[in-house]
Amino acid sequence: MHPLDPCTADELTSAVAVLRAADKLSDRAFFSAGWAAEPSRSDVARHEAGESVDRLIRLIGHDRNQGQSFEADVAVGTATLAAFRWVEEGQAPISMDDVMQVIFALVEHPDWLAALEARGITDLDKVHVEPWLAGINPPQMPTGRVIRAIAFLHEHPEDNYYARPIEGLTAYMDADSGEILVEDHGAVPTPMEAADYAAQFQDEFRDDIKPLDIVQPDGPSFEVDGHLITWQKWSMRVSVNAIEGLVIHDVRYRDGDRDRTVFHRMGLSDMVVPYGDASPLHFWKHAFDAGETSLGHQANSLTLGCDCLGEIAYLDAVMLQNDGEPRVLENAICTHEEDFGILWKHTNVFQPELPPEVRRSRRFVVSCVHTVGNYEYGFFWYFYQDGTIQLEVKLTGIIGASALHAGTDLETSPQVGPNVTSPIHQHLFCVRLDPALDGGTNSVIETNVEVDTEGPHAYGAGFRALATPLRTEQQAKRVIDPAASRTWKIINPSSLNAMGQPVGYKIVPPSTPTLLPPDESPAGQRGGFARHNLWVTQYDEDQHYAGAGPFTNLHPGHGVGLPSYTADDRPIDDTDIVVWHTFGVTHVPRPEDWPVMPVEYVGFTMMPAGFFDQNPALDVPPASHCST
Ligand code: NI
Repeated sequence: MHPLDPCTADELTSAVAVLRAADKLSDRAFFSAGWAAEPSRSDVARHEAGESVDRLIRLIGHDRNQGQSFEADVAVGTATLAAFRWVEEGQAPISMDDVMQVIFALVEHPDWLAALEARGITDLDKVHVEPWLAGINPPQMPTGRVIRAIAFLHEHPEDNYYARPIEGLTAYMDADSGEILVEDHGAVPTPMEAADYAAQFQDEFRDDIKPLDIVQPDGPSFEVDGHLITWQKWSMRVSVNAIEGLVIHDVRYRDGDRDRTVFHRMGLSDMVVPYGDASPLHFWKHAFDAGETSLGHQANSLTLGCDCLGEIAYLDAVMLQNDGEPRVLENAICTHEEDFGILWKHTNVFQPELPPEVRRSRRFVVSCVHTVGNYEYGFFWYFYQDGTIQLEVKLTGIIGASALHAGTDLETSPQVGPNVTSPIHQHLFCVRLDPALDGGTNSVIETNVEVDTEGPHAYGAGFRALATPLRTEQQAKRVIDPAASRTWKIINPSSLNAMGQPVGYKIVPPSTPTLLPPDESPAGQRGGFARHNLWVTQYDEDQHYAGAGPFTNLHPGHGVGLPSYTADDRPIDDTDIVVWHTFGVTHVPRPEDWPVMPVEYVGFTMMPAGFFDQNPALDVPPASHCST
């Protein structure tokens, strides 16, 4: 076992047994997640192949009798409880146990039944209750493990109930005490139009699609050894974390004789999805799908030919269930390679006797798809032959819906279907990038390109790439500026390329929004990481999450995470740093997003910028099937 391997089912079972034996939890406690605590860099560096690893397994969960969540570290090698604490602020992620409590309690609650009856709904089998994250404790229920609920109506059991939102009706439940508060904001007719997307409901399919098969007769060009993957010159370790989803550790690129380190760790740290419609069904929604719902638990089991195409190698993940039993999530990670068009090309028109030089680009893909309630998120990390790394997040699934009525504000909730509107919302993702460019310490440089407006050049020549070192954490809170071609370059000042420049990788940020809700709002207090596109912090192993991490659920916020990490404005120049990049989209729903949304792509790219001495992909051979 390697120290960066994810925890096994046996480790989880042992850790749960140790914690139970310590007699800290009541019989109304449940587990939310468990994972191997990140080993220190020095422990990873000291590890020799084949050596046993003494690991800490972190367990989180919630005790309904205590009304608090817990966090425990268990040393499985010695079967000892190394640490235990009751969490003071925030709670463990929402669990299946919470969800089922809300669903079963509401169908028996007189206020809920009366509100349904006021809408002419008496057949409870047709009502789909959808429990939701409350975000923070609302004034109506200032304490307790609050879950919100909204509801939709079925016409028949297999249809898309999201097309029939039961408008104006919400409920809160304290899942610990069982207390329920139903809020009826007034009955509005429920849309009855069908909006089905499943194959069985389509009258016809287009018939002009011929088979397209990806065939690799000699197998794929990558190797999987446990969680270690090598593909051409790249190597990395991949796993699924219960909270953060896909994590890529120890990213390296073999450059001649050198096995060069690029990143210690890359992964989503947090994400926030604030809704911008003031109607009762939506105004409180601002989901943190990583910390509040434990993203890793929502990973799909991927199936050949559907989610990925070609020669696939799958990796499983192990998640801890509420009852303390491990569950193997088969095929949680898909790895494969893809043809990606042209890598580079040149035709010399002055020497027509020479063949054009063209190379096909191949990329290695590591992906994981999560279903969180109505929505899907696919995380796709791409590694390219020229040293480029890219993260693409695929957004799909079913958008939030409201019933169109006289009070609808179409500017905040545009119409997307017959009698259905959908609120404008944002999806903002914050990735945590722990760089290791040739090891050692790193700095971050911002580059803005300006043109000399006064000067001797009548042609307007004088495009200057102005490099500004970001020297402190406050100085490094930055937003994009596409007009200035703004990029941020991570460099290692002590490792120089053939030109004597420090080796670097630049973050090429996409056109991306920042957080719209104001600072004093719940989303602003809890999702401060989305206020800026770039943050750089001094490395601190206790500062792992961009927000409140595994205890985001019902956490009041007050600048938790990056805003507080950077408050002391520590120096970040030529030291051990972590780079955080927030990107995403403000989603103004379209009719084409209904009834199921075609994938919208967001993400960012990291390009080597002086990391190599020249194009590192000159050694990619011409494709054998190309006729010239
Ligand atoms: Ni969206």
